[in-house]
Amino acid sequence: MTIDPALHAARRARVFEALEARGGGVMLVPAADEKLRNADNEYVFRQDSDFYWLTGFDEPQGCLLLSARAGERRFVLFVRPRDKEKEIWNGRRLGVEGATAVLLADEAHDVSALQEKLAGFLDGAATLWFKLGADAAWDERVLRLLVELRAGVRTGRRAPGAVVEPGRVLHELRLVKDQAELGLLRKAVDLTAEAHLAAMRDGWAGRHEYQVQSEIEYAFRRRGGSGPGYGTIVATGANSTILHYRAGDAVLADGDVCLVDAGGEYGLYTADVTRTFPVSGTFTRPQAELYSLCLAVQKRAVEAVRPGATIDGIHDLTVRGLTEGLIAMGLLSGTPEERIADKAFRRFYMHRTSHWLGLDVHDVGDYQVEGASRPLVPGMVLTIEPGLYVAADDEQAPAALRGVGIRIEDDVLVTAEGHQNLTQAIPKEIGDMEAVCVR
Ligand code: GLY
Ligand code: MN
Ligand code: MN
Repeated sequence: MTIDPALHAARRARVFEALEARGGGVMLVPAADEKLRNADNEYVFRQDSDFYWLTGFDEPQGCLLLSARAGERRFVLFVRPRDKEKEIWNGRRLGVEGATAVLLADEAHDVSALQEKLAGFLDGAATLWFKLGADAAWDERVLRLLVELRAGVRTGRRAPGAVVEPGRVLHELRLVKDQAELGLLRKAVDLTAEAHLAAMRDGWAGRHEYQVQSEIEYAFRRRGGSGPGYGTIVATGANSTILHYRAGDAVLADGDVCLVDAGGEYGLYTADVTRTFPVSGTFTRPQAELYSLCLAVQKRAVEAVRPGATIDGIHDLTVRGLTEGLIAMGLLSGTPEERIADKAFRRFYMHRTSHWLGLDVHDVGDYQVEGASRPLVPGMVLTIEPGLYVAADDEQAPAALRGVGIRIEDDVLVTAEGHQNLTQAIPKEIGDMEAVCVR
């Protein structure tokens, strides 16, 4: 992947500004490390999202430091050194020289010097910005450093006065996407659109869920994506009512709905899209009624996305719309107010409507500010994903709907004018899906 050093330098400048506004200090962000799967075989490496956002650097091990002290800003990297033998086996490394020349670090060191050098950077810093509790080895390293600095008090050393979550600064910034990020998200959406069309075309009776999954993931990788941004869900029949089901080996059958929740990752940014299509190419009448309710409410929720709106507000209107529809269909009785108050709607809709989206599928950023749902601002990206799930053993529901799960999920950018539905092109109207699901 190509690195745009100026882009990451501009992001670091904003972080430095925020650190200085909070009295300065040192931010320490570890890179992700490789994780053994078994023997000497590792899981596929995925860089830590904060580290990547700040550097564009996609190699494991080491860390970055952003030091904002006494008006001086320093960007320091600890990286794996060049190593001819290791690079033959495991791939190229940027090395210490590359960290300054390519990544524009003011100073770079071999990762093996971490323990010896870190204390010097932290000594006397007002605040250490470090995420405790994310990695036991890093926690231990940092705690040892703090103990070492405290023990040196008589020789003039001083431990930071506070350890604060770096996310307070980083995640506020990551929440509002810049143009480069939106470009990558749009690429992720393009692959995802192709993948969902492939799933609809390929999802005919007799196919296994894993075969549909392979079509989806082929579409992600074929066009330069790194693969799925989260575990691909292909859920046919009653599996569609299991929220965290993954593609298994069930066989698609006429009369079933097939729920596909799949998003491709491109440049470490992921889309997150769900479509639910009829395996036969045509929904049964009861399925179409349930689907139409979910779709109408989903479209209203997307329309509600604009600056100043809130995720809680959008969720509330979604719950209201679904509950009214469930009563109209006879799946619930009484009034919407009663069924919302006693939470009876949760029998059919048990999750939230939205989450932030970006480098992480459930992206970072506070959902509440000052005790209230946070107003949306341009540049935020969120999902809108209502669903209706009728359990297979729900004997009070009509037999024709038992084991039918529907979710419709789009990725929506907040703009100054309102919103842009990034995943609008992926068919979700019944007629449009039927035109793709030709059997
Ligand atoms: N695919 C995970 C989600 O929709 O939140
Ligand atoms: Mn989602
Ligand atoms: Mn999803």
